[in-house]
Amino acid sequence: MTKGWTKSDWRNKPRVQMPDYPDKAALAAAEAQLAVYPPLVFAGEARKLKRALGAVSAGKAFLLQGGDCAESFAEFSADNIRDMFKVILQMAIVLTWGAKVPVVKVGRVAGQFAKPRSAPTETVDGVELPSYRGDIINGFDFTSEARVPDPARMVQAYTQAAASLNLLRAFSTGGFADMHRVQSWISGFTDEEDAKRYREIATRIQDAMDFIGAAGVTSETVSELAKVDFYTSHEALLLEYEEALARIDSTTGLPVAGSGHLIWIGDRTRQPDGAHVEFCRGVQNPIGLKCGPSLCADDLKVLMHKLNPENEAGRLTLIARFGAGKVGDHLPRLIKAVEDEGAKVVWTCDPMHGNTIKSASGYKTRPFDSVLREVREFFAVHKAEGTIPGGVHFEMTGKDVTECTGGVRAVTDEDLSDRYHTACDPRLNASQSLELAFLVAEELQNRRQMQKAANM
Ligand code: PEP
Ligand code: CO
Repeated sequence: MTKGWTKSDWRNKPRVQMPDYPDKAALAAAEAQLAVYPPLVFAGEARKLKRALGAVSAGKAFLLQGGDCAESFAEFSADNIRDMFKVILQMAIVLTWGAKVPVVKVGRVAGQFAKPRSAPTETVDGVELPSYRGDIINGFDFTSEARVPDPARMVQAYTQAAASLNLLRAFSTGGFADMHRVQSWISGFTDEEDAKRYREIATRIQDAMDFIGAAGVTSETVSELAKVDFYTSHEALLLEYEEALARIDSTTGLPVAGSGHLIWIGDRTRQPDGAHVEFCRGVQNPIGLKCGPSLCADDLKVLMHKLNPENEAGRLTLIARFGAGKVGDHLPRLIKAVEDEGAKVVWTCDPMHGNTIKSASGYKTRPFDSVLREVREFFAVHKAEGTIPGGVHFEMTGKDVTECTGGVRAVTDEDLSDRYHTACDPRLNASQSLELAFLVAEELQNRRQMQKAANM
């Protein structure tokens, strides 16, 4: 892969959105500690995800990525992890039904702690303090002590990530993810009066399960029905943490990020000559790249060459995040850049980050309808261009929060204050997430028909 690359080369490149740690000795101690801890993921798993994403890039699978905007130390609990996992599983079955191909499940979890910010400081009642940058860096409380970057937080984040992954691995293979159970949760949702418009799809999924069950295919006879592959991902923003967890894969002799299966580069840190691109280009994991309205075709071409010089399928996932009403302005020129280069990429849609608004009640929110509209525009542009809409990327939680407005169990502007718990951006709640999966499943049925027509 990248000859001559070392995991600390990013230190010689311009960096943005990273903290200046005042206590250098504490920083060195935290880095040294993480460097001798076990990696959180095994390189073989990252390669397996890359193969699965290769299938996504060819339209033979679909990517579902979702989870918190920012994980926090305070919200860390088995229940929260379970509920998030539970919704992702339900969404995955609904999407599988729509796409008729496997759904690759990737959580924004077990490492999604560091946050880029639009301003370095924030001012409340005339007091100006450094911005909160995620629990792995500083504290959420609005006090000058809490806002000092503290390297010991990296070790706490690692510990939380390790415990989260341990539980997720147990859930994935220990019977919790059994397709029959997941299907019964979906029926629970569509049995409710307000979700009845989704009942037909749920009934058809149930019929399919009953049919294969009658034919002898059950979780007792086919173990695949009782378990899932679940992968982790996060934004590789805090490069001291990433470097300390980078390892040499004993199987291939190549560097690998040990912090999670897929790492992505944010929309604010994707400078082609910057530190974040430098780090990510050298590790063999699948890499995500956020593509916002300011990304120009020439930069995308440079980034594709740097991040995927061998044009390996599954290596690079382009995460489009433009905002409802703007997809048509930006996506076609980036698709053209990809097609001009003959690049193999996964195109996925993040309909969250371009749709954040301030509600009348003062909360940062995202209207369900804008989220849905961006997804539909994403599918429509790919249809027009003859390219593959490969996945969706949501900020979501398994809890019944009130952070995004709309949905069948409508959350209104006035409701936002009831259960607004996010440490950063507003998330879809469990019901909004599942509803979106039903709506995306309808889009996927069209995708299937298109692919069928193309193969005729
Ligand atoms: C995020 O995914 O939480 C994020 C900050 O996204 P972006 O880099 O696209 O703004
Ligand atoms: Co976010």
